[in-house]
Amino acid sequence: EAIEKGGYDHFMIKEIFEQPRSIADSMRGRLRAEDAHLQLGGLEAYLDKLAETERIVIVACGTSWHAGLVAEYLFEELARINVEVEYASEFRYRNPVIGENDIVIAISQSGETADTLAAIELAKSKGAIIFGVCNVVGSSIARATHAGAYTHAGPEIGVASTKAFTAQVTVLTLMAIATARRKGAIQEETYGHLLTELECIPSKVTQVFENATRIKEIAFIFTYARNFIYLGRGLNFPVALEGALKLKEISYIHAEGYPAAEMKHGPIALIDEDMPVVFLATKDSSYEKIVSNIQEVKARKGRVIAIITEGDTLIPPMVDFVIEVPATHEILTPLLSVIPLQLLSYYVAVMRGRNVDQPRNLAKSVTVE
Ligand code: G6P
Repeated sequence: EAIEKGGYDHFMIKEIFEQPRSIADSMRGRLRAEDAHLQLGGLEAYLDKLAETERIVIVACGTSWHAGLVAEYLFEELARINVEVEYASEFRYRNPVIGENDIVIAISQSGETADTLAAIELAKSKGAIIFGVCNVVGSSIARATHAGAYTHAGPEIGVASTKAFTAQVTVLTLMAIATARRKGAIQEETYGHLLTELECIPSKVTQVFENATRIKEIAFIFTYARNFIYLGRGLNFPVALEGALKLKEISYIHAEGYPAAEMKHGPIALIDEDMPVVFLATKDSSYEKIVSNIQEVKARKGRVIAIITEGDTLIPPMVDFVIEVPATHEILTPLLSVIPLQLLSYYVAVMRGRNVDQPRNLAKSVTVE
């Protein structure tokens, strides 16, 4: 096992640091910015259907469901398709309005999650076309779908999903861009720019790792916090949910992710000088709104850790701690902004002496209801 960990203390940290490679692997052979090439072999035959559909329903569980929420923004923004994201466990027991004109995308790292598999069978029985985004080749979900695109994250051992999430978001981004282009919904210039920026993501993830020591220091300060709030807007809202999930899974600290503006309808009551609040505050279209949300938290003495875009000079003096990520196209932000949150949860859990790779009560793959 020590050999498998490749010199790291845990699989989770090894997998976090593998992300530049796993993201690149998920794009390999599919994307070449140089000559504006983008092709997902498994989906090619269905691309027209994707471009024509009026509705996509995404089914998934856990972290994969968060990747689905990111995809909702991507397909809506780029391809102008209406998307619904469903917990597979809820979807399967409703009587969902779904039929031949709908496309279902099932997202699953393991490809074995019982609820997701059952949701697929239900949608299939109603005539929908099902795409899979799975990491495990030949898994039950991969076999149950009509078509799909594998994520090439490699085996993920840590129960808390990290590299599988960024690989899912990468593949879903490729799908959304390919669909948008087939539909004629994005301009060639935007298309080319997105492909170029995507190719830069692995090296930008590596740049985020340069903050590891800083993140460790922040983790040390908050090791014994009892609660955490994570706030983000737009594409960073699912990232806030994912950051909170990572922390609770492995450190057992209660954490809540919320859309930043929704905070005033409840969570703001929790804020005092003991409450760490992690803000996803990168320079995107919600930036100004997020800045005012930060001010609202600071006015109530919350302790703010902000994930900001490199070079931002406005936020640092307003908050307690900042962690920088490189600038990218707004659409690709989650691939960078989630990295510091994975590291923060990892270091807090290690400092609390938790079993990081096998947290209590959790299973890597949930094959029963
Ligand atoms: C379990 C794992 C999570 C994972 C979820 C969905 O709860 O602990 O990390 O996100 O299942 O798994 P899947 O394999 O379908 O992505």
